[in-house]
Amino acid sequence: MAATEPLTTYQSSFSLPSLLKVPETDPSACVLDSFRIAIAQLLSDALGLDLEKAYNGVDYGKKGEDFTVALPRFRLPGKVNEVAQKVIDKFSPNEYIESVVADKAFLHFRLNTPNMIRAVLTQVHELTHVVPAQQAASSSSSAEPEGIYGTNKLGAGKKVIVEYSSPNIAKSFHVGHLRSTIIGAFLANLYKASGWEVISMNYLGDWGTQFGLIASGYEKYGNQEKLEADAIKHLFEIYVQVNKDAETDPTVKETAAAWFKRMEDGDEAALANWRVWRDLSIKKYVQEYERLNVQFDVYTGESEVSKSSMDDALERLEKIDLVEESNGAKLLNLEQWKLGKAVVRKKDGTSIYLTRDIGGAVERYEKYKFDKMIYVVASQQDLHLAQFFKVLELMGYEWAQPKNASLVHVNYGLVQGMSTRKGTVVFLNQIIEEAANVMHEQMKTNEEKYNAVENPVETAREIGITGVKIQDMAAKRINNYTFNWDRMLSFEGDTGPYLQYAHVRLASLDRKNPHLLPLPAPSALALDLLAAPHTSQQARDIAFLLGTYPDVVKTALKTHEPSGVVTFAFRLAHAISSAWDAVVVKSLGEDEREKAQARLFLYGCARDVLGSALRLLTIRPLERM
Ligand code: ARG
Repeated sequence: MAATEPLTTYQSSFSLPSLLKVPETDPSACVLDSFRIAIAQLLSDALGLDLEKAYNGVDYGKKGEDFTVALPRFRLPGKVNEVAQKVIDKFSPNEYIESVVADKAFLHFRLNTPNMIRAVLTQVHELTHVVPAQQAASSSSSAEPEGIYGTNKLGAGKKVIVEYSSPNIAKSFHVGHLRSTIIGAFLANLYKASGWEVISMNYLGDWGTQFGLIASGYEKYGNQEKLEADAIKHLFEIYVQVNKDAETDPTVKETAAAWFKRMEDGDEAALANWRVWRDLSIKKYVQEYERLNVQFDVYTGESEVSKSSMDDALERLEKIDLVEESNGAKLLNLEQWKLGKAVVRKKDGTSIYLTRDIGGAVERYEKYKFDKMIYVVASQQDLHLAQFFKVLELMGYEWAQPKNASLVHVNYGLVQGMSTRKGTVVFLNQIIEEAANVMHEQMKTNEEKYNAVENPVETAREIGITGVKIQDMAAKRINNYTFNWDRMLSFEGDTGPYLQYAHVRLASLDRKNPHLLPLPAPSALALDLLAAPHTSQQARDIAFLLGTYPDVVKTALKTHEPSGVVTFAFRLAHAISSAWDAVVVKSLGEDEREKAQARLFLYGCARDVLGSALRLLTIRPLERM
């Protein structure tokens, strides 16, 4: 396999003795890689192992250990304790490794504390502030430079479409759409952070018989003013009304079907209103997504899949004998792949969801030539996605062959009990408002603190949204969970507000200690003081965790799980709060300025990385609250 392309030409201002190169590692982006290589070199020297093989056996340790090696994985001859002894005999403390202990079949390695702390903090600082600023200065872009610590170039030159959110116009925005929005926006950020070119796509449910229903209901219940004020809400109200009418009046559905048929046939008169509804709905969505810190590059929808691409698809499927007629409708038979049968064209010739997805994927490939396309859709649609992925594969498209792994369904479980105090949630803005209100009320209970906040309403909304997002991303995607406002918006326990609070507390340190600023460059800081015996453990824990962040990002890219990043943020926040009493900044006297500056720098790095992790999770980290 090719070695990872180096992130930058960045050379840390702190360097340690040079080491051999190992494929897929990049110390210029993740300095812990070099410590791991040092361990691998020792193993390789002591046991005669191939360096890369030895490297792959070096894992993060459990709490209290930096790295651990499970010796049996190397399948070496002899007793495991003799193998361990060989490594221990070969070892003497060096600039990378402080100690090695054998524990049954495991070897635990502890890194050289002062060097690890200095190497990690220097890298965090330089890749967050120095390198991006240099890059921005040399390019013409005047945009605020973004920190690159934690990012990688695994996707350089590759393009991914991430399709997510995809609500249905005129129907409710349910919690499944909310999850897709939250997870999808995270994935879009994650792929960008890994060097991919990302296209964020919203595939609206903007086509289908429901528009025939609304069109017929609009004549009766439509109101231009209401439509302009809040299209999403008004169209939903009409939809609910017509559906009620349809219960007693069978002609409603017939009129609706006839109307939709006219739309499918391209009848301008039938399409005109629909176009206005769609535009107004998108406008409203853009505003609401913005509040969630979610942006799309492309708004497309089921309506945009062309008839010809669907006809082509059907023709190809007929040729390979996958289509059956049934009562005038066309049916796809996928039983030999245990994927059942599915209608691909209705009796009246109108298209359906599945067919649009087939045609849509082909069109997207032709337009974007993506290397990967990710669909973030609830696990209730597992069968639907498996069906259309299979169909695309059978149609013979190279990009749709499973071996290329370019079509990916990122699914997620159900959420129970999402309602507000006023009742069931049907719109996205109800969720945002409720989160903001619950949070606002809670903040008001501490009057003193509340009065010190500059923009309490916006602050409450940001914290509330953070609570919703963290609750959603805290566990494995596939797990179901129960929506619980009190739990997700509490400042205690592993919640979004707790993470925002940790960030705010870090951000306040610079404001509270102006006499220590500006800090000298890392090489001029007395960082060795952080390793002083009485504070070393807390400072060390923070530094080591910061060093693991690039790997947290890489793992998330493999698993498509936001939970690893959330867990990392909590571990970091906990490490910071345990340090708070032992590693104080403020109360140090003027004679301890050097120590105070080193500590301030440590917290500054922690803030940078916690901020990056939150931003990766689509959260806007707060400076004050
Ligand atoms: N609009 C659909 C729904 O609400 C979700 C669309 C998912 N994406 C897709 N390409 N099928 O159920």
